Amino acid sequence: GDGVFKYYSSGEWKKSSSGKSVPIINPTTRQPHFKVQACTQEEVNKLMEEAKTAQKSWAKTPLWKRAELLHKAAALLKQHKFPIAECLVKEIAKPAKDAATEAVRSGDLVSYCAEEGVRILGEGKFMVSDSFPGNERTKYCLAAKIPLGVILAIPPFNYPVNLAVSKIAPALIAGNSIVLKPPTQGAVAALHMVHCFHLAGFPKGLISCVTGRGSEIGDFLTMHPMHSGTAYARDRKQSNDLVELFTGGDTGIAISKKAGMIPLQMELGGKDACIILDDADLDLAAANIVKGGFSYSGQRCTAVKVVLVMESVANALVEKVKAKVAKLTVGLPEDDSDITPVVTESSANFIEGLVVDAKQKGATFCQEYRREGNLIWPLLLDNVRPDMRIAWEEPFGPVLPVIRITSVEEGIRHCNASNFGLQGCVFTRDISKAILISDAMETGTVQINSAPARGPDHFPFQGLKDSGIGSQGITNSINMMTKIKTTVINLP
Ligand code: G3H
Repeated sequence: GDGVFKYYSSGEWKKSSSGKSVPIINPTTRQPHFKVQACTQEEVNKLMEEAKTAQKSWAKTPLWKRAELLHKAAALLKQHKFPIAECLVKEIAKPAKDAATEAVRSGDLVSYCAEEGVRILGEGKFMVSDSFPGNERTKYCLAAKIPLGVILAIPPFNYPVNLAVSKIAPALIAGNSIVLKPPTQGAVAALHMVHCFHLAGFPKGLISCVTGRGSEIGDFLTMHPMHSGTAYARDRKQSNDLVELFTGGDTGIAISKKAGMIPLQMELGGKDACIILDDADLDLAAANIVKGGFSYSGQRCTAVKVVLVMESVANALVEKVKAKVAKLTVGLPEDDSDITPVVTESSANFIEGLVVDAKQKGATFCQEYRREGNLIWPLLLDNVRPDMRIAWEEPFGPVLPVIRITSVEEGIRHCNASNFGLQGCVFTRDISKAILISDAMETGTVQINSAPARGPDHFPFQGLKDSGIGSQGITNSINMMTKIKTTVINLP
């Protein structure tokens, strides 16, 4: 056809009546690689209505049948891992192996959701009245989990497939329908993922995927009266797509204000701190700092974003990290390089702004700063001080600040002074100290002796403060996609 990928509505692939398309820029070549439909508000209205209707009968479809379809979709996702990975390589410059892993992890997540869903949604609660003062045993209460309705899912560019299915699968198993707005960068990978659900044979209208410009359909989607829940994952400055949509400050916070009185699940930014005590295994710490700070070029909400190291071991740690950084390969995602171009030119410019600020204020550069197009070489900045922007802001790129501390309390204070509270980690051989530090850190998760990470995907995953709303992880996400309905039987 005209080379524009179609959007998905009423169980069919369609062209938008706008006649317009949105280009997807390959971060490596900085040239348009794919095009997707620029959908209109009328098209959004139509698929919202269909989602409403489809949800009603889906909620009545037996749970085991819903699970069966999800298992089919999971198997298809794994079968299609190479074409999906290929899109991720071209659209978001994800290294080839990580891109394939994303597809497989997504399949695993979908089947786990199906299994977990039949268990936790297969049971409710039965209560009697006479435990509360003044009551006889004359009331029996049956509590069940029922779906919310239509779920709007807005995943970010860094996991266009995985952070989409982490919302879609829990929503579907719980009896909801889905309207997906993929990030523009990653939209074709997401459409391919939706194709797997299409092939699995879900009812028409239950799942739809709408692409287009944020300025046209962004607010329109989030403020649409017809959906009853939003699951949203990050995109602060770097999401060209959503920034364009929801300008002015933090996208997630803006969405929460616009969405109105509906349940929200949000996974937003992070400034995950890595605290290194003087008794830490420095080789273990260094390996985790490099993996945590530089995998997918630092474009993960759970990336290590600031190292807080005790002065007594700082020189030794920095040397070890430097040696490992020197071994990172820099180049093309097709070649499976460790460091690949960041998602957009504006993201690269933002990262460069943080680097320039740190340079002016006297940070120690452990490597020379180097950039070609969107490709930024990995950079460790030592002796960062609190007056530097990089001490607080998320680069979402391969640049990692090290702050030297003279007490553990100083490290905890820095961590807790952040607006974010996603994850953090602490390296020490003293487990009691580690637990006390974990208790003191105001973050949704603290990892002891490992880098922050969301997975395994059934673990609870949540951010405190500006890092999010609600708790994810498979079980929690399924519960987030439901509300409680009670029926009370009154005996004579
Ligand atoms: O970017 C946010 C993701 O939820 C992080 O997931 O820890 O598996 O990279 P990850």
